[in-house]
Amino acid sequence: MLMSGTPSSSRPTESQLTEPRSTESWLADAVLYQIYPQSFADANGDGIGDIAGITERLDYLSWLGVDAIWLSPCFASPFGDAGYDVADYLRVAERYGTNRELIALAEAARARGIRVLLDLVAGHTSIDHPWFRAAADDPDDHRYIWSDRAAGSRWNPSPGSRPGYYLQNFYPIQPALNFGYAQMNDAEPWRQPVDAAGPRANRAALRDIMTYWLDRGISGFRVDMASSLVKDDPDRAETGRLWTELRGWLEQRYPQAALIAEWGDPAVSVPAGFHADFFLHFTGRALLSLWDNRAGVQQRAALSGPCYFDAEGRGSVDEFLAAYQAATATIAGAGWVALPTSNHDFSRLACGPRTRDQLGPAFAFLLTWPTVPAIYYGDEIGMRYVPGLPDKEGSELAPDHNRAGSRTPMQWDDSAGAGFSTAAPERFYLPLDPAADRSSVAAQRADGDSLLNLVRRLIALRRAHPALGTTGGAEVLCSGYPLVYLRGTSYLVVVNPRREPARAAVAGATAARLSTARPLEARGVKVAGGELTVDGFGYGVFALD
Ligand code: NOJ
Repeated sequence: MLMSGTPSSSRPTESQLTEPRSTESWLADAVLYQIYPQSFADANGDGIGDIAGITERLDYLSWLGVDAIWLSPCFASPFGDAGYDVADYLRVAERYGTNRELIALAEAARARGIRVLLDLVAGHTSIDHPWFRAAADDPDDHRYIWSDRAAGSRWNPSPGSRPGYYLQNFYPIQPALNFGYAQMNDAEPWRQPVDAAGPRANRAALRDIMTYWLDRGISGFRVDMASSLVKDDPDRAETGRLWTELRGWLEQRYPQAALIAEWGDPAVSVPAGFHADFFLHFTGRALLSLWDNRAGVQQRAALSGPCYFDAEGRGSVDEFLAAYQAATATIAGAGWVALPTSNHDFSRLACGPRTRDQLGPAFAFLLTWPTVPAIYYGDEIGMRYVPGLPDKEGSELAPDHNRAGSRTPMQWDDSAGAGFSTAAPERFYLPLDPAADRSSVAAQRADGDSLLNLVRRLIALRRAHPALGTTGGAEVLCSGYPLVYLRGTSYLVVVNPRREPARAAVAGATAARLSTARPLEARGVKVAGGELTVDGFGYGVFALD
């Protein structure tokens, strides 16, 4: 199966043609790192991570070799959804520091070749945002979506003197901004078209927010719930057009800026205007079939199914490969699929029955596949999903779905506060992982065989050999256990995510070249004749002559 990182033969989609668009971006060569600001590093000793703490840890990120950090929202907020309920897009939350400190972080990061991306919560604000407070008292205000009746469970009574109900976008504390409806409906006369004054004002507001931060050294945005903007938009065509318009504007004004969607369907979002979009847990099975991170955070049986990174080897990588191939064929070189290790909404790579042994092959795959890799803070040291935590700032979506276990403090060292904070442990944003064998950056830095040092070497390899990144093609030679693929013409990657050893016979022209295989990074892989023998949880990246 031949997969190209940047296929060029497919025809561009209609929306690609509507705006002039650059297909060049620094993102193509980037390794992203997601920071959950409240949990990364606490510089002022109050138990909550902050911007100054991140700045103090830039040397670590530079040592690790990542190119860009994405900060989950760090703006003024009542924190009913951990900051995804924004009360002021242009002001850093007091608990994180000041705008000046965020701008200084971006400058200090840039000096180390690291870009800073912010989280743009585009679809909703907090009920505490002044826009919403004003709207709740003014029947002529159209920034949000109001009706005269509760037309379903997502409508909430007005908290102000204005009569009626407002539509929530996520939690009730997150009123949906009005970007209009894709279709009108006589039974719902409050619907406005996408080009009505309110929806147009909100598009302008998004541009204002982006302008503010891009002018201050920020390099782009991860866009929260990017597919949610236009309502009753079954194929997301109008939402796509909205992003096409914004991307066109960005190309004119800030051609270096990157837009990354939280959409989960790169085949739709990238042609619409995003530089990249993540394969996510809640859309399709691409990511679920690869490393299913739901154990712990989300246990709805209906969602279960084997994944390829299953120690017992019950999964198949074919679903992932097919989804990747379909997405890249549609994207047709206009941008990239981003692949996360995990994120703040799902369990970490180390969760449930998955052991840390499986993370070596997981990172070997992540950092040699033509997707844009995104490392969630702590996954590089194998931090685990911590079960059994209480709800924290809206982390619990349902009784069987608590995101808190993926949001625990970064484990920097083996001191009592793990180097995260000097505060008393009871003041920590969330408790540290109580496990006796809790991993730490300090211990793993000192151990050349650690996961952390492996991740660092793999990042360096990806940088030194561009064919391992998004630009080189990928030819899958064997898609069982192990997975074997060629990157470009000269690199062979072998990954065995199961406990049992695995064997693959390589046929064709590559078989003859196997005798020249030179390991760039390998563990438990033997090459003999045309055959590869791989230990349980083994992996290898080889150069071929
Ligand atoms: C997606 C974010 O990742 C999640 O944490 C948040 O709760 C919702 N969007 C609402 O903004």
